[in-house]
Amino acid sequence: MSIRIRQVKSADFEGVLGLNRQFYSEASENPNFGDDIYLKRPTKRRLKDWFGRVIKQRRAKEATYMVACSGKSIVGHCFIRPVDSPASERSHVGNLSVFVSRGFRNQHIGRNLIRNSLTDAKRKFDIAQIVVMGNNPGARHLYRKLGFRKWGLAKGYVKRGRRYIDLEYMSRWI
Ligand SMILES: CC(C)(COP(=O)(O)OP(=O)(O)OC[C@H]1O[C@@H](n2cnc3c(N)ncnc32)[C@H](O)[C@@H]1OP(=O)(O)O)[C@@H](O)C(=O)NCCC(=O)NCCS
Repeated sequence: MSIRIRQVKSADFEGVLGLNRQFYSEASENPNFGDDIYLKRPTKRRLKDWFGRVIKQRRAKEATYMVACSGKSIVGHCFIRPVDSPASERSHVGNLSVFVSRGFRNQHIGRNLIRNSLTDAKRKFDIAQIVVMGNNPGARHLYRKLGFRKWGLAKGYVKRGRRYIDLEYMSRWI
């Protein structure tokens, strides 16, 4: 089935909740999961509040949020939110997050979600930032191909059990 990338809608909440559940199941099964998580899985209510806030930010043109759909299912999402308050001198920098469902990876959905989000971000941000875990060379490869460059390393900033994992900061001008 073909994949469609579009703007998020309020009615997508259940689909986004499904993505979040997959994200946490995968993270709990895989000690090398390549993204950092909250130690406690967010409740549906908390996620609904978060989703409402991002939708509001998007409507106010302070954030971008794209989803990838296969038929009626949401199989990936990507959002860019300001790193600081929209009223700050850092509001031109947006932090990008991306996730694609396990069964849909390596089909360029992540790449297309990011490309579409960067286009959408042109009138909102000047710089896009991604924070990637040091144990995720695949994601880093993808971000490099999309023009992101590493500018910083936060050594040991993720603590998973007894293990310390580095965070890499990457960015590019939009
Ligand atoms: C990272 C992620 C968003 C990439 O999405 P995707 O749809 O699988 O990636 P794409 O198919 O668009 O990949 C594009 C390129 O990156 C490469 N790539 C992506 N993930 C890779 C991986 N884990 N290992 C090796 N290469 C990878 C692909 O081979 C492809 O390279 P090519 O264009 O040279 O063929 C997705 O794998 C994901 O959600 N992973 C789990 C969570 C995660 O790691 N998030 C990253 C947080 S920073």
